Amino acid sequence: MPTVSMTVNGKKVSGEVEGRTLLVQFLRENLRLTGTHVGCDTSQCGACVVHVNGDSMKSCTLLAVQAEGAEITTIEGLADGDTLHPMQEAFRDNHGLQCGFCTPGMVMSAVDLVKKNPKASEQEIREWLEGNICRCTGYHNIVKSIQQAQQTI
Ligand code: FES
Ligand code: FES
Repeated sequence: MPTVSMTVNGKKVSGEVEGRTLLVQFLRENLRLTGTHVGCDTSQCGACVVHVNGDSMKSCTLLAVQAEGAEITTIEGLADGDTLHPMQEAFRDNHGLQCGFCTPGMVMSAVDLVKKNPKASEQEIREWLEGNICRCTGYHNIVKSIQQAQQTI
């Protein structure tokens, strides 16, 4: 089995994987970083979004071996110790989550959006989130959360 090495949340990690192992499986099963969720088999739900070399990406669309040498950030790497990332704070403040299943992917997508388009309009926020499905919130509070975070990030 091939060995894959990468940096995850600032720590160098490596592990043996099958060629077909997805990045999300490597994160969840090898590294036990279970904040990254799997919500579909069709690359539609966005629950698995992480940052790969600084860009948000669905970790179910990438093989672990394709992430060789990459810098990965997962939801576990966002907070600074006990201090939540401003996007996490904003989701909490605005009730941007209910069951929380979609939340890790939403937050990781939202952080990338605010980095790339700090002044994104409500319409642009909604378009950016088209790859993230939430079955609970109706999206209004998620959009409000991101708008709050735009003021603080
Ligand atoms: S698990 Fe990756 S998009 Fe649904
Ligand atoms: S908060 Fe439940 S799926 Fe989004």
